[in-house]
Amino acid sequence: MTIAQLEPLPLQHLRRGKVREVYVVDDDRLLLVATDRVSAFDVVMAEAIPHKGAVLTQITAWWLRQLQSDVHHHMISADVGEIVREIPSLADHRAALAGRAMLCRRTEVFPIECVIRGYLAGSAWKEYSSVGTLAGESLPDGMRESERLDPPLFSPATKAESGHDENITIARVAETVGPRLAAELERLSRLVYERGRSIAAPRGIIIADTKFEFGRDRDGRITLIDEVLTPDSSRFWPADQYQAGRSQPSFDKQPLRDYLDAERRAGRWNGEAPPPPLPKAVVSATSARYLDAFRRITGQELDLTGPS
Ligand SMILES: Nc1ncnc2c1ncn2[C@@H]1O[C@H](COP(=O)(O)OP(=O)(O)OP(=O)(O)O)[C@@H](O)[C@H]1O
Ligand SMILES: [Mg+2]
Repeated sequence: MTIAQLEPLPLQHLRRGKVREVYVVDDDRLLLVATDRVSAFDVVMAEAIPHKGAVLTQITAWWLRQLQSDVHHHMISADVGEIVREIPSLADHRAALAGRAMLCRRTEVFPIECVIRGYLAGSAWKEYSSVGTLAGESLPDGMRESERLDPPLFSPATKAESGHDENITIARVAETVGPRLAAELERLSRLVYERGRSIAAPRGIIIADTKFEFGRDRDGRITLIDEVLTPDSSRFWPADQYQAGRSQPSFDKQPLRDYLDAERRAGRWNGEAPPPPLPKAVVSATSARYLDAFRRITGQELDLTGPS
């Protein structure tokens, strides 16, 4: 089943993101559901990408299992059978939720996007190439686009309700959440990113940068939440094509980006919503990339059989 718009669930709908829908289960639990929506250049496409939601959810679930002993996290289950046992009112929605839903501990979210960068790309490259800094902090001279950063840079941002997140200095994070929590968020972000990139690199994927979110659970524990080391929260680059000094192709979205770029150059799209319709070949090539990302990272095939 491919889903852009989720059928109504018998739960309170809390929030709609570009890709995910968030529902309240009770005071202590949330249900996060990744649809198959895809965005590029900040615009959500009309077409859904088969299996993308399940890929995102199951990649997060896989990482959280790897990280079990490193960090406290929010996942209760990403298995639809277990989720329906916990929330019997979802029984009629098994097929729609299979693979894509994650039952989570609800936390009080810290208002910081914990961005960590192992390579100089995107907005970080833009800032560095124009003024030589990153979120106001200085970097060595003469770095090239996409160059590796050792050690990785912790470059936090505010969580903006609308529009773009704003990069902030580490000093600002300390003012916002206190110096001890700020230091702990940085430590955990570095730890999880280092684990992630060391697992992904030999499997042909460079995790150039990523964004984590943390919250405080009912018992006061600092908890890793949201999606973790997915293609949507990270820049995934194919390692065999990596070359510093230029921008890199995106492991997952490149077929989509190339198509949209061509439409723009041809004057058929102005870069804003509504996006142009996507040819079937672009949709299926993008779907194949997401499935490949899952396969490469986890070493497993995504279970496409649906609920039993
Ligand atoms: N365990 C948790 N407790 C509380 N909030 C959580 C938890 N896990 C995730 N969230 C929140 O769920 C929301 C997910 O919605 P979000 O808007 O990020 O969806 P999205 O599809 O990723 O959209 P976008 O692409 O715009 O980021 C985030 O605001 C995140 O902070
Ligand atoms: Mg998000």
